[in-house]
Amino acid sequence: MTTPDIVLRAEGLTKRFGGLTAVQDVSFEQRAGEILAIIGPNGAGKTTLLNLLSGLHRPTSGTLHLLGHDVSRASMERRCHLGLGRAFQIVRPFPEMTVLENVTVGALFGKPGARLHTAREEAWALLERTGLATHAHKPAHDLNLLQDKRLEVARALATQPKVLLLDEVMAGLRPTEAQEAVELVRGVRDSGISVLFIEHIMPIVRDLADRVVVMDQGRVLARGTYHEVTADPHVIRAYLGTELDQDVA
Ligand SMILES: Nc1ncnc2c1ncn2[C@@H]1O[C@H](COP(=O)(O)OP(=O)(O)O)[C@@H](O)[C@H]1O
Ligand SMILES: [Mg+2]
Repeated sequence: MTTPDIVLRAEGLTKRFGGLTAVQDVSFEQRAGEILAIIGPNGAGKTTLLNLLSGLHRPTSGTLHLLGHDVSRASMERRCHLGLGRAFQIVRPFPEMTVLENVTVGALFGKPGARLHTAREEAWALLERTGLATHAHKPAHDLNLLQDKRLEVARALATQPKVLLLDEVMAGLRPTEAQEAVELVRGVRDSGISVLFIEHIMPIVRDLADRVVVMDQGRVLARGTYHEVTADPHVIRAYLGTELDQDVA
């Protein structure tokens, strides 16, 4: 049974695309308040797994529980209403709308029965929190990359998630920007939201993750703390030829 301190429980999740098994028999748990990282070489199945968690894909087999609810076949909307938020690898705001309007849309549609003026108030508070308040009235297409990522996190937070999924939100950021993004994610967790993130920049994983799940060829290769998994011979072999401790560059 799923207990309340487990926010996500995946059991035997499998996703096939025709003859290709992108995710195979993946099981893991995420505890409330935990920052969990999913890492693995290119093509390991990380994004597919995130799509199974968010509801973009339905699993070929296996189950997923979100905060005690079986959401294995639930829509993205239902998962969102239960408390799952997602920021995407490819930033997709509404470019012509202002930053404030973009976040307001998230606040309006994230919860059934939300009111426009409360949604706007919540959006303002989120812009303060993500450091975007001074850009509130700019069209979203005027933001730089770091601000785009902040907007994406603000939009996801606007749906008041209990669990936030992040897919490589640090990609393309300069080291100082990545450090700011790390602080933002820590702040999100400190506000009581569990964070599951995919990241290939290892120093960020080391700094941010309480626990790490390593995937390779669709399967879970290892789980544990950053130091445990990076010392695991299976993990070292999977990453052979790549620099495990590469710095943010
Ligand atoms: N929609 C899809 N249709 C067919 N194959 C896919 C699809 N999405 C991902 N794949 C394949 O699944 C495997 C895992 O991909 P992905 O989940 O994107 O890995 P990662 O995010 O770890 O790089 C890859 O071989 C990829 O080509
Ligand atoms: Mg990916």
